[in-house]
Amino acid sequence: MESIMVLFIIALSLIYVYFKKSYNYWSGMGVPQLSPSFPFGDMASVIFRKQNMGDKIKEIYEKMKGHRYVGLYFFSRSAFLPLDPVLIKDILSKDFQHFHDRGIYYDEKNDPLSAHLFSIAGPKWKRLRAKLTPAFSPGKLKYMFGTIVECGHQMISKLNEIAEEDGEVEIKEILARYTTDVIGSCAFGLECNCMRDQNAEFRFMGKRAFTQTVGDVMKMVIIRSFPPLARILRLGVFSGSVTSFFNRVVRETLEYREKNNISRQDFLQLLIQLRKDGQLDEEMSNDKHTIGTKLTIEEAAAQAFIFFLAGFETTSTTISFALFEMAQNQSIQERAREEVTRLFDKHEGLTYDAVMEMSYVDTILFGNIIPDGLFEIQCCSTVF
Ligand code: HEM
Repeated sequence: MESIMVLFIIALSLIYVYFKKSYNYWSGMGVPQLSPSFPFGDMASVIFRKQNMGDKIKEIYEKMKGHRYVGLYFFSRSAFLPLDPVLIKDILSKDFQHFHDRGIYYDEKNDPLSAHLFSIAGPKWKRLRAKLTPAFSPGKLKYMFGTIVECGHQMISKLNEIAEEDGEVEIKEILARYTTDVIGSCAFGLECNCMRDQNAEFRFMGKRAFTQTVGDVMKMVIIRSFPPLARILRLGVFSGSVTSFFNRVVRETLEYREKNNISRQDFLQLLIQLRKDGQLDEEMSNDKHTIGTKLTIEEAAAQAFIFFLAGFETTSTTISFALFEMAQNQSIQERAREEVTRLFDKHEGLTYDAVMEMSYVDTILFGNIIPDGLFEIQCCSTVF
């Protein structure tokens, strides 16, 4: 027992020294840095949910005003945060070939669901990105539109029900259920039923994917600081229940559809086609990255998974912010309502073309600067 304690103390001391040494990386390079502390680096407030990442970055930005960049630490790992818009633009365009890697951990061999578009880098990312970009063409989005509207009707019924009972709505939760239903239908071709069923498994798993237990935080320390060790230990990025749920759902749905030759107008159908032909018919191109290798079932599952995760939380958060801002800015709310009513009349209801013409609502959601003072609700776009 004593020797285990001694070993434990030695291991902890070595880790402490290693982290402390890591925290000199940026200052050693002449890059300004903050005051990282063991073991969370600069991210303790984010890990403990006292601050969200957007507010944290904003705080750093305000604190470091006048600097072009700052060096940060996520646990022991260093991260470079550009602050100067010109530098940011160069990174995203001119110098993109050096910055295509988000530096997100994944383990294709033991945790294939983690090897999705958001985490992979280099030629593999480029190939998949080129294959999947056509999934967002106006034509594809148009054919998913009916599904989105149908989920909207279910949300309206739910809101009416709540209004008749006690009138109080937790809008973020309702919207998360709505966007889960939408993405579930569009990405997986499944009725997730989150709006009607309070205990829907898709909602439970979506929520679990964005919740961190103490165990998840400890796993993250290893994943972020010692990626090779995380691979040896086969630490999955998400909890086992989330990974096995999505793996099973996507695999079963893909295999069922392929076996029974079922075709639906959704994102999964595009993945099925990419598995079969390696590219989408309408978007046949000579780009060497879009032709050739077909998607494996693991690759297809990982992409459906990230579409679900990247799609439902971001969208419900953005709509929640927009609704909050509109509730506080009556005149903006009225102008939005006027635009929606006018375009409904013009297009005889809620159609794809009506939504495409809603430039004012688009500005509210995505924060384009327009001449008459919409800057007040620019925070809708800070989540980006
Ligand atoms: C308002 C809603 C959304 C916000 C705020 C948002 C935000 C973002 C951001 C900031 C990135 C990283 C961009 C970069 O590193 O250059 C990203 C990437 C991504 N998002 Fe979204 N997103 C939203 C909706 C969606 C939806 C609905 C989907 C899918 C159905 C989606 C799928 C993805 C994917 C797959 C990537 C990785 C793209 C790549 O690496 O090529 N997002 N998103």
